[in-house]
Amino acid sequence: MTETVADLLSDTVTRPTPQMRAAMAQAPVGDDVFGEDPTVNALEARVAGLLGHEAGLFTPSGSMANQLGVRLHVRPGEELVGDSLAHVLRAELGAAAAFSGITSRTWVSDGGLLDADQPLSLMITDGGVYQVRTALVVVENTHNFGGGTIQPLAEIERLRAGTRPVGVRMHLDGARLWNAHVATGVPLSAYGACFDTVSVCLSKGLGAPVGSVLVGSRALIDEARVWRKRYGGGMRQVGILAAAGHYALEHNIDRLAEDHARAHRMASACAEVLPGSVDPERVRTNILVLDVTGAGWTGPDFATAATALGVRMYPTGRASVRMVWHLDVDDAGTDAAIEVVTGLLRRGR
Ligand SMILES: Cc1ncc(COP(=O)(O)O)c(C=O)c1O
Repeated sequence: MTETVADLLSDTVTRPTPQMRAAMAQAPVGDDVFGEDPTVNALEARVAGLLGHEAGLFTPSGSMANQLGVRLHVRPGEELVGDSLAHVLRAELGAAAAFSGITSRTWVSDGGLLDADQPLSLMITDGGVYQVRTALVVVENTHNFGGGTIQPLAEIERLRAGTRPVGVRMHLDGARLWNAHVATGVPLSAYGACFDTVSVCLSKGLGAPVGSVLVGSRALIDEARVWRKRYGGGMRQVGILAAAGHYALEHNIDRLAEDHARAHRMASACAEVLPGSVDPERVRTNILVLDVTGAGWTGPDFATAATALGVRMYPTGRASVRMVWHLDVDDAGTDAAIEVVTGLLRRGR
């Protein structure tokens, strides 16, 4: 078997460090279904505070946090609108429809970048008995399949200004909001202020093994807590996992800038070898989506060839592959990956 020189498959592949494991082992715990786990309670309050919301709810996954958020805002038979590449719509296996009877419509973006006019012109709030009512707009920041795209705060605010007067709610899939915050310096609470609910992941670039947090008003989070239990997501002495989240918040936010610099370095190298395969100016966080068709590759073939040479990555479609930087890929790993990836681009299929 080929030795992995850089695992760029996802920022979810990180393993907890000995220090994080030590923090987990020492965490005070209690029965969280009864609200008695002090480490979980502290984590929920901490993340809510960071995002400027009243309350938080610890969930096992980002998908659960998103789907709880979505169902708080949309009644069965109503719709949510989102970008066609949004994780909520594309990679949560139809959960909004399957669990909550929600329909959805999409707009097509340029690399995941939000243009507020698109959702604003898609929304229907006065459709009477003929047209589905739009209850929610979902925004993803950073945008995963768009290539780690950062949503401009001004554009989010413009969307909020258009949705508020007509009673359309907004949910932020902020699985990688930390990356947007580090790349731009925009406070987490400034993003948080634009949304009714926000989900953030601790298990992506921050390196925790498990966990997301949904934040919102006290009333919304009380309701989400009931639905989490109903979905089978009530957990017991889960402070062990929440402790990893605390550790991640303390130690792993600022260092995301290193991941961003490495992704950008790879983007520049690829653009030099194959102009048009990626625009390095747009690679501002830890994700790079590379169009490999100019070298005659398909996404799946390129990913297979790179993996055989020790660089794991994810084929995002027929034309492209996705590479993601994280705690376990350093400068040397990035150099090795650059050699493999640019070598394949030069060689062609
Ligand atoms: C943007 C985004 N939202 C949500 C999720 C879901 O997270 P989880 O895998 O923990 O369900 C992911 C996972 O990759 C993601 O990239």
